[in-house]
Amino acid sequence: MIFDPTVKIAPSILSADFSNFGQEIEAIESQGCDWVHVDVMDGHFVPNLTFGPTLCSAIRKHIKTVMDVHLMITPVDPYIKAYANAGADIITAHIEAGPHAHRTIQVIREAGCKAGIALNPGTPAGAVEHLLDVVDLICIMTVNPGFGGQKFIYSQIEKVKKLSSMIGDRPIHIEIDGGITVDTAPLVKKAGADVLVVGSAVFDGGSVENPSVYGENIRAIREATGG
Ligand code: DX5
Ligand code: ZN
Repeated sequence: MIFDPTVKIAPSILSADFSNFGQEIEAIESQGCDWVHVDVMDGHFVPNLTFGPTLCSAIRKHIKTVMDVHLMITPVDPYIKAYANAGADIITAHIEAGPHAHRTIQVIREAGCKAGIALNPGTPAGAVEHLLDVVDLICIMTVNPGFGGQKFIYSQIEKVKKLSSMIGDRPIHIEIDGGITVDTAPLVKKAGADVLVVGSAVFDGGSVENPSVYGENIRAIREATGG
C-alpha cells in the first residue's frame, strides 16, 4: 500500500445490516468508499461486543478495497495474529489497551499488517510521540468508543491539529472515528485528517435494495471536505 494523503472515506460496518455483510460491503464499495472499517469490541475495553476473527475472515472475502480493523479490546497482543490471518490490511490497537503500545505496533507489523494506534478522547496527542517513527496510522476517537451514532466531541479538533504538526511530513494517516457528518468532516479535514470513518452518516437511509443512498452520503461527505 503506497501512502496516499488524499481524503479517504471508510464506512464502519457497525452501522450495516448484520444479517447481510456480504451485500452491504459490495454496496458501499460499488458506491465509492475507499476503505472498509471493522469495529472489533470485547465487552470489556468497551461496553459492546462485535466481530471475532472468524467473522472477520468471512467478511474479508467480500472486501476489494482495504480492510481497516479497529481493535477495541484488551489484552490486544494475543489476538493480533488471528485478525491478521483473517485478512486485515491495517490493524489499529488502542494506546490505552496496555502498557506496551510500542510492542503492540511491532506485533502488528510482524504479522504483516500496517499498524495503527488509536486514542480515546481523554488521551492527549503527546501520548503517541514515541511512536511517530513506527506507526502507519493514528486514529483520534471523536466519540467514546463502543457505539455508532454518537455525537462528535468538538474538543478533539485541537488534538488533531496538534497531532498533525507533531507528525510533520512523516507518511502517517490521521484517521478520525466517531460522529463524522457533512458538518464535522470539513473541520477534521482542515485540522489535518485524511481518513474519515463514517458509520451512521453513510448507512442511514440506505439499504442493499437502495444502495444509491450510500453513494449520495459518501459523495456528500467527500464534497464537504473539498473533494
Ligand atoms: C465507535 C466506532 C466507530 C463508530 C462510528 O466505537 O469505533 O467506528 O461506529 O460510527 P458513527 O459514524 O455513527 O459515529
Ligand atoms: Zn472504529
